[in-house]
Amino acid sequence: PRVTYVEYNGREHGIELEAGLSVMQGAIENNIPGIDADCGGECACATCHVFVPEEWLAKTGTPGEQEASMLGFAATAQPNSRLACQITMSEALDGLVVHMPEAQH
Ligand code: FES
Repeated sequence: PRVTYVEYNGREHGIELEAGLSVMQGAIENNIPGIDADCGGECACATCHVFVPEEWLAKTGTPGEQEASMLGFAATAQPNSRLACQITMSEALDGLVVHMPEAQH
């Protein structure tokens, strides 16, 4: 499935991401700037913060309890914020777009 990462300045990075991997892993493996992932995907750093466009929110779902509390530490969190390490790629998410906050740049 395909996922497109959009930097805060509008630069887009489209990749093929194997189902089962997280959106954070896709960014790290492809050296996409804007996702730091300091904790390596443990849902403990909030430096993989992304914004999910409205039309994808139903498919990506809502943050889990720990994720929601970590997002509380992200300065620019919005209702459509997610942690990219907690979004697992699947065929249903083919075409997903995520936007990175400027603070992670
Ligand atoms: Fe640390 Fe996602 S990589 S919270």
